[in-house]
Amino acid sequence: MADTRRHRPTTVTITGAGGQIGYALMFRIASGGMLGPDRPVRLRLLEIPQGVAGAEGAALELQDCAFPLLTGVDVSTDPAEGFDGCNIALLVGARPRGPGMERADLLAANAGIFGPQGAAINAAAADDVRVVVVGNPANTNALITAASAPDVPADRFTALTRLDHNRALGQLSAALDTPVGEIRDVTIWGNHSASQFPDVTHATVAGRPVHEALAERLGGEAAATAWLDETFIPRVAKRGAEIIQVRGSSSVASAANAAIEHMHDWVLGTADGWTSAAVVSRGEYGVPEGLVSSFPVTAQDGAYRIVEGLSLDPRARARLDASVAELDEERAAVRALGLL
Ligand code: NAD
Ligand code: LMR
Repeated sequence: MADTRRHRPTTVTITGAGGQIGYALMFRIASGGMLGPDRPVRLRLLEIPQGVAGAEGAALELQDCAFPLLTGVDVSTDPAEGFDGCNIALLVGARPRGPGMERADLLAANAGIFGPQGAAINAAAADDVRVVVVGNPANTNALITAASAPDVPADRFTALTRLDHNRALGQLSAALDTPVGEIRDVTIWGNHSASQFPDVTHATVAGRPVHEALAERLGGEAAATAWLDETFIPRVAKRGAEIIQVRGSSSVASAANAAIEHMHDWVLGTADGWTSAAVVSRGEYGVPEGLVSSFPVTAQDGAYRIVEGLSLDPRARARLDASVAELDEERAAVRALGLL
């Protein structure tokens, strides 16, 4: 049996805990699915008054699961309480988009949530706090959160693009008829939006370049390039809209799964190759300093690090630049709203 006494409980705050993704997150976290079977967790569920009943109901169900790793659950509508002693913050609470909307359309509705939450993290969270923003538009909301927490190092703020990364793996696995576990070093660059760049330039499948394997399967180099440009990239970049169209509301279980994997790797390290996460740029790959952009990353010793030195051909450069230009526009819009 795992010895849970070796670790002090990790305090995990979930905002929007009464919503769809919150519900899909908390039972996996409480059963060890995020931090492993030997780390006890204490959950803080933060909601607004309109959503608090959902969080309170979920807290009752958590108790009824009798998870050995769960040392306590608090439900609150006060950010100061919700982030008290928080080691890990999953910022999910925000309005989701509906059919026909882009994620950036949520900026005006959601951006105002993240300044006060950043300030509360600054004031109340633990020194080692790590934050992932899930609520859309995730990258720019993470930018606002970081800017509102001046005493917390910028590298503790991230936004979720692991879902896009996993979507890319899923599409390649199906196209190549190969298990996901054989595929390495896919990258999501830029914004968690339709402008993102899912990049397979450096990706391998069972040790071979993905492009070579695609060419073999699809009948040549040109066919492989056409599939990547016309099918793979738009399918991954617009998968969120496809889910909304098919199920009538935005992704839930896959989003929760990605957030759990993002935090798992951040705390416990990446295994083989790299993954993708949106982190605060220090100018890597020409992305303006301060923007929260998706990059190829590895995690070691509790820190995400950008994989540097990868080549970007002119077409890849243009795709990354377009997504970064959108991030810049979102930052300007948030400044115009007085939120930065
Ligand atoms: P939902 O409407 O089911 O739940 C959102 C919850 O947030 C509600 O219960 C609401 O009361 C709560 N909330 C609103 N403002 C809050 C605040 N200030 N503090 C605390 N809680 C607050 O929505 P959902 O399906 O869970 O999606 C949540 C967000 O995640 C949306 O913005 C959605 O677009 C986004 N999302 C992001 C990704 C990603 O990959 N980054 C994937 C899926 C969904
Ligand atoms: C997703 O990628 O599924 C989420 O960001 C929800 C959305 O609006 O697309």
